[in-house]
Amino acid sequence: MSLVHLIDLPSFADERGGLVAIESEQSIPFAVKRLYYIFNTNHQARGFHAHLNLQQLAICIKGHCRFVLDNGIEKQDVVLNEPTQGLLIEGLVWREMHDFSEDCVLLVLASEHYDEADYIRDYAQFMLTVQKRE
Ligand code: TYD
Repeated sequence: MSLVHLIDLPSFADERGGLVAIESEQSIPFAVKRLYYIFNTNHQARGFHAHLNLQQLAICIKGHCRFVLDNGIEKQDVVLNEPTQGLLIEGLVWREMHDFSEDCVLLVLASEHYDEADYIRDYAQFMLTVQKRE
């Protein structure tokens, strides 16, 4: 299965402008417990972690940025630059965000509340966890 899973979000654009509506467990495959957004990144890369048990959908609602996804076996890059498109990240995947445009606003929907214990922030630890799960 490809590491990059893009979802076309329900879009109701008309002459008045754009409108995207996201329904938990309908347009996306999980119930949303949390959302956060990243902006004013000052060109700094972020992420550099994996999650043990979390589904997320990342939407670049303004501007663009580049994700690097890595499942320990393969690595893929994907540029997000469409507010109507969401990147689904699930399973044991190391993620990095790079090349934020000045105006980038990255919205992330998450299936669980924030839990630092769910993070793997060390790449060597991530690789060990991947090997244990194989
Ligand atoms: P961090 O995980 O470093 O962000 P990124 O994934 O973009 O690299 O999070 C930065 C800080 O924000 C850190 O102190 C944890 C806090 N935080 C929350 O409290 N709740 C959240 O939902 C998130 C994503 C982060």
